[in-house]
Amino acid sequence: MPGYVELYELSKAYPTRSGPQLVVDGFNVDIQKGEFVCLIGHSGCGKSTVLSMVAGLSSISSGAIVVDGKEIDGPGPDRGVVFQSPSLLPWLSARDNVMLAADQVYPHVEPSVRSEIVEYYLSVVGLADSMEKFPSELSGGMRQRVGIARAFSLAPKVLLLDEPFGMLDSLTRMELHDVLLGLWRRDQRTALMVTHDVDEALFLSDRIVMMTSGPRARVGDILEVGFPRPRRRADVLDHPEYYRLREHLIGFLESEGQERLAS
Ligand SMILES: Nc1ncnc2c1ncn2[C@@H]1O[C@H](COP(=O)(O)OP(=O)(O)OP(=O)(O)O)[C@@H](O)[C@H]1O
Ligand SMILES: [Mg+2]
Repeated sequence: MPGYVELYELSKAYPTRSGPQLVVDGFNVDIQKGEFVCLIGHSGCGKSTVLSMVAGLSSISSGAIVVDGKEIDGPGPDRGVVFQSPSLLPWLSARDNVMLAADQVYPHVEPSVRSEIVEYYLSVVGLADSMEKFPSELSGGMRQRVGIARAFSLAPKVLLLDEPFGMLDSLTRMELHDVLLGLWRRDQRTALMVTHDVDEALFLSDRIVMMTSGPRARVGDILEVGFPRPRRRADVLDHPEYYRLREHLIGFLESEGQERLAS
């Protein structure tokens, strides 16, 4: 069965002073509709490169990306992106930052309906009482909640997340895992998320795609994560499979790390 999101023989060469550097080479993944897939790999292997090609923010050197049967060509509202720190306009409130994106993505919807959607998502992420605050008045975690509300309120077919919790403390990160999973389940979104964190990947994913160390990074292995949903952290940690899956991921990363040192 073809995937809802298909990354087919994807390659990326960056121009460098010593000629083109092939960072990603022949990367293949099919993601099913409604699936949550995490991409894990060593720093610098090319995770953000893959994600930004799917977002349409970085050109594809060869191969193709298909979303819901259509080959992508540049960015589009069918893909919502959440980065490590959300790009919020400092002179707009949390609500107006999200409204700005909503105005652009569905200008034909009644303004009152647009406001309702925006306020709904800001409430779900826990910002009901902070919608009028400006970015400088929000904590890092709150700003990231705005970024998540913005991405979901635009109803993209695919959510692309690049280490969205990387800068947050572990308590906030765990809270936002629950916010993200709650929204993802409720809206039945398809998600591709980059993370360094093995436990984060295990808690969130249906499948974890392990990337080999670059250059010429590709898919090294794929792990199925079958913990029942909805997930509670304590249940996942207690699951008899948890440590076997964790060992598998760490084993892969360690062996890739050794190859990287040897090369
Ligand atoms: N614009 C660019 N021009 C040239 N080389 C680049 C560019 N962007 C990234 N690279 C190189 O491509 C490789 C992959 O970078 P990328 O940012 O995709 O890695 P990553 O896996 O996301 O790393 P991290 O985990 O540290 O975020 C790195 O060697 C990096 O130096
Ligand atoms: Mg990165």
